[in-house]
Amino acid sequence: MKSRTKTNGLLACRLNSLRFRRLTEIRGQFIADCLASLITPGSRVLDLGCGNGVVSAIICDRFRLDFVGADVRQALVTDIPFTAVTPYGELPFAPGSFDAVLLNDVLHHFPSQMDLIDRALRVGRRVFAFEDKPSRTSGLLERVINFVHYGGLPGGYNRDAAGWRRFLAVSGYDFEVREVGRPTAWYPFEHFVIVIGNVQGILDRQLPERQGRPG
Ligand SMILES: C[S@@+](CC[C@H](N)C(=O)[O-])C[C@H]1O[C@@H](n2cnc3c(N)ncnc32)[C@H](O)[C@@H]1O
Repeated sequence: MKSRTKTNGLLACRLNSLRFRRLTEIRGQFIADCLASLITPGSRVLDLGCGNGVVSAIICDRFRLDFVGADVRQALVTDIPFTAVTPYGELPFAPGSFDAVLLNDVLHHFPSQMDLIDRALRVGRRVFAFEDKPSRTSGLLERVINFVHYGGLPGGYNRDAAGWRRFLAVSGYDFEVREVGRPTAWYPFEHFVIVIGNVQGILDRQLPERQGRPG
């Protein structure tokens, strides 16, 4: 077990040096573009499952947010305010203390997605989730990335747009699911932006649709 962790650590370092961070930055800029019409500049935002904080820092800087990153492990390589959370407990924040909770590339790592959404919506008025569109290539690539970069993080609980709509339709929450494409033609993943919770004043805004060059 120890040696597997060590191997994962070494491989993760190699990937970081092989410009994995640059890829994450491209994704971060893309997520920020997708959120541009949704996030209110200066608002209080929780990034739940912030990972290494590269995406968080881009979003936080772009919209000058009052920002907190949270994760079950501290893996930050950027300087953002951070709170550790437990995988299944209540989140350590007062009810309604955030205007929005970001779940960037997090939901499809959970078998109990509704539980995570419920917890997020207790501390925030709405969730903005950024999710991969399932495909054979993205499934394979994701398995490699999860193993090498996140030390064996589970995954694969992806849904297509119709699947997310069916799933959320029974939740009782208001929601909107939009396909936003990919940042560049060569980028291996296509994405959705999903808004859940208090969508008032949000759904009349133009949500991004098919940004970037569709692949
Ligand atoms: C694929 S990474 C995404 C990281 C970051 N949001 C990004 O877009 O680069 C998924 C993250 O979710 C975190 N995570 C897993 N279970 C979690 C939980 N129960 N609560 C909060 N974060 C969790 C993992 O530690 C990991 O950092």
